[in-house]
Amino acid sequence: SIIDSCVFTYIRQRKMLGLGDAILTGEPLIGNEPFAVILADDLCSTVGESVLSQMIEIYNKYQCSIIAIEEVPRDQVNKYGIISGELIDNSNDIYRVSNMVEKPDIVDAKSNLAIIGRYILTPDIFEILRKIKPGNGNEIQITDALLDQAKKGNVIAYKFKGKRFDCGGIKGYLEAINYFAKLLGIK
Ligand code: G1P
Repeated sequence: SIIDSCVFTYIRQRKMLGLGDAILTGEPLIGNEPFAVILADDLCSTVGESVLSQMIEIYNKYQCSIIAIEEVPRDQVNKYGIISGELIDNSNDIYRVSNMVEKPDIVDAKSNLAIIGRYILTPDIFEILRKIKPGNGNEIQITDALLDQAKKGNVIAYKFKGKRFDCGGIKGYLEAINYFAKLLGIK
């Protein structure tokens, strides 16, 4: 049903200048409306609503950028964007983000709340992405652009309901294959 109801198109990022630059490359397709970003190497499985559907509900309430987070082991914080902020809705695991750092050193990380590859972004992010300087890894980081919005109170982080596999590494990729094989009853 999705294939029948959608138009698919693509833009190629010509140089690997970072996730922020990749998102900026998509601006001509998006224009002036909120949009979702899915990083395909973060594979998510949920029992009920998909992670993005959960996030759209939160967007409808807060009308600002929404990022999905999960707690990761302390020794892995240097692989992720790490947020800190105020828990504003305890029962729904929703935080108002006050700070975020891309791949901090383990000793410097203010929390173990890691950004995973699901974002709903408001279109003012493009203007910010155009202005920011390269950050971690000398790349244009979406985390740095989001910090600009967060300083104005415009970023909400949400501990999503579901399971995530980091398919950017062999271990997570194999775990995902095994998990879905079991789920589908493949022996
Ligand atoms: C990207 C983001 C990072 C986020 C991660 C989630 O990093 O820059 O903030 O935590 O995705 O998978 P990458 O994995 O592309 O290095």
